[in-house]
Amino acid sequence: MSRYSFLDLASSASVKSAQAEMGVDHLWTPGQVDRQMEAFTENEEAFIAERDSFYMASVSETGWPYVQHRGGPPGFLKVIDETTLAFADFRGNRQYISVGNLDANDRVALILVDYPRRARLKILAHAERLAIDAEPGLLERVSDPGYRARPERIFRLKLAAFDWNCPQHIVPRFTEAEVSRAVQPLREKLEALEAENRALRERLDQARG
Ligand SMILES: Cc1cc2nc3c(=O)[nH]c(=O)nc-3n(C[C@H](O)[C@H](O)[C@H](O)COP(=O)(O)O)c2cc1C
Repeated sequence: MSRYSFLDLASSASVKSAQAEMGVDHLWTPGQVDRQMEAFTENEEAFIAERDSFYMASVSETGWPYVQHRGGPPGFLKVIDETTLAFADFRGNRQYISVGNLDANDRVALILVDYPRRARLKILAHAERLAIDAEPGLLERVSDPGYRARPERIFRLKLAAFDWNCPQHIVPRFTEAEVSRAVQPLREKLEALEAENRALRERLDQARG
């Protein structure tokens, strides 16, 4: 029985050989680790709901991996249930590399990063593409009112396994909105000090006559 869902999937024969070469294969043998991460919990759901981007890798039939950035309003990647994700595939550069790759091989790898908190989540899944009207209500579920982009199709991902990465080497980065929220108290303080300064100058001018 699988003991470490994500690594069991990722550990091909060559990966196992590399682990043996580095003398770490014993770390990953059954019984050493127990990470049955095959269903999202509230923890992953909350993390995914905050993300405004992720990277998704697919594989072509020639063996080339292909990774693409996906972005949208926070939470545009929807957790449909504990093993299903979905998102709207917006009209873009019309290369359709991910779409084509998925027709040949439905496996995808996602990485989602929370830069301010220095956390990252890796996901392995099987992806299918659906027409936007394939299922009643699904387009509404993956659409965010007010976001200007045209969905061409819906990608639905069936979770195979996920894994959390450590925070090592993640440099905290902040979005414009996060920076704006953080500096708002400073702006208010500055405005108050400027007003106070103006009032003091006026009093000084009056005192000087
Ligand atoms: C007008 C427009 C131009 C784009 N140009 C590029 C581009 O040159 N390179 C790129 O990687 N993505 C570009 N994008 C974003 C991609 O089209 C988008 O990420 C899409 O999902 C890529 O799908 P694919 O890489 O699976 O083919 C563009 C998007 C738009 C709307």
